[in-house]
Amino acid sequence: MKEIIQLLNNNKEWARRVEIETPGFFTKLKKQQRPKYLWIGCSDSRVPANQITGLLPGDVFVHRNISNQVINTDMNLMCVLQYAVDVLKVKHIIVCGHYGCGGIAAVKRNATSGMLEHWLENVRVSVRKHKRITLNEMCELNVKRQVENLAHNTIVQKAWERGRKLYIHGWIYAISDGLIKDLKVTQSGAHARKHHRS
Ligand code: CO
Repeated sequence: MKEIIQLLNNNKEWARRVEIETPGFFTKLKKQQRPKYLWIGCSDSRVPANQITGLLPGDVFVHRNISNQVINTDMNLMCVLQYAVDVLKVKHIIVCGHYGCGGIAAVKRNATSGMLEHWLENVRVSVRKHKRITLNEMCELNVKRQVENLAHNTIVQKAWERGRKLYIHGWIYAISDGLIKDLKVTQSGAHARKHHRS
């Protein structure tokens, strides 16, 4: 149990340090959250959204799952997305994958089983289509696919039709050097808005 007690001790120390650095930090946060960003990332323990982007509590609404999948029948993600877009009114949705993703590697090796086999079905379809693709290329392609899925999602589409400024970004993180690369596939719904006006 020592390792669990350590976490609680870390927490006390962290809260004390934050309050010293920024007096009133927690009382201010208690009133409301106004994050500008929704992060959809991999559950991988080496890719923590706040830390790698230098964001504080209150800055980013986070959803993480294995291999950062955007599946329109995933009730969990759909609730997160709706809340983030319609209630919190985030301005940016970031899909952030990472090189060497274990979920994607397992699909490539045909080594998934049980629930994971179902969860990663869309990755499997992509891998079959691109037989010679490397793992890291597949990790990038996977992010691009999820950005497309989001751009076609009704929650996002409706926000764009209402004229909302909402950007979807595709990023990939390298665990080996801690750096994020922008895959430059940002979608802004310009087309949806233009279509709506005409
Ligand atoms: Co991963």
